[in-house]
Amino acid sequence: MTEKGYYKAWRVLILSIVGVLAFAAFFAIGVYIVSQPMLERTYAYKDVNLIIPTDNDSIVEGGRQARIHGCYNSCHGTGAGGKMFSDSLLGISLPAPNLTMLANNLSVAEFERSVRQGIKQDGTAVHFMPAPMYYNLSDTQLSQIIAFLRRLPDEDTELEEPSFGLSYRWSLLQGEERIIPDEVAKVPYIGHLDISEPLNHGRYLAMTTCSQCHGPRLHGRADWGQPPSLVVSTVYSFEDFKLLLTAGEAIGGRNVGAMRIASKKRFSNFTKEELEHLYLYLTSDEFMQDLE
Ligand code: HEC
Repeated sequence: MTEKGYYKAWRVLILSIVGVLAFAAFFAIGVYIVSQPMLERTYAYKDVNLIIPTDNDSIVEGGRQARIHGCYNSCHGTGAGGKMFSDSLLGISLPAPNLTMLANNLSVAEFERSVRQGIKQDGTAVHFMPAPMYYNLSDTQLSQIIAFLRRLPDEDTELEEPSFGLSYRWSLLQGEERIIPDEVAKVPYIGHLDISEPLNHGRYLAMTTCSQCHGPRLHGRADWGQPPSLVVSTVYSFEDFKLLLTAGEAIGGRNVGAMRIASKKRFSNFTKEELEHLYLYLTSDEFMQDLE
């Protein structure tokens, strides 16, 4: 190659690299600019006030509910004192906050709003918090959970501020990362059901404890380890269902990943009656109709 040709080849190479970098920078800046209003959007909310019990039985029951619903010994840390739920430079760095501190410092209406409506104190959306599942949580159970959290020893946990990286913002624009208050709005309301009736109670339990992973209508999800439609419960006998939900052991001894962990940490706290009602509903004609 002549000296001139050699320099030309270098120029083309350098210009191509600069072009690709400039495109990447423009793309990243564009994603940040377009996604920022989505992150800053505020939502209309209701102020719901609850009476928080102080008697010992309610606090103990609140502890059981907090375990079943994953507020304690789960995403918010073993003692609900908070932990980094996700810590990724390009994705999302998200602290699951200290619930003892929040239960004591926020107003009950503010706490309720985050949990059941998916809206933070400043009116913006929570992220990853399974508010669509808690939307149907009864006033009684939420009040008991708050009573329990208020009594926990406070942990002085240091957590980073949330930050939203490029890949998380991109997935928001693609509609992959669902905006929680919008998802809450799509959940069927079942608060009118008389849950002293076993079938209704089973439906209440399924909607408030399984829908986080198995989808808002329990149809299953394509992401998150692909939890199937809960119609799969019909292949389980009650004894096998009980074993799955208490010990995380699926039929055939398969390892069912996230389900195994959720069963051991959370669902092992169900009473036998709750398991019976859950099974009754998930194997009923009514459930098949609700799925349609
Ligand atoms: C933390 C997420 C999570 C929660 C909460 C959850 N599940 Fe699952 N579940 C999964 C995943 C993931 C799978 C698929 C696992 C696999 O196939 O490896 C699964 C699978 C199952 C299966 C099928 C097991 C099999 O034999 O393949 C049943 C039945 C089931 N779940 C019932 C429930 C019920 C009932 C609830 C509520 C009480 C519930 N799950 C709550 C994540 C979850």
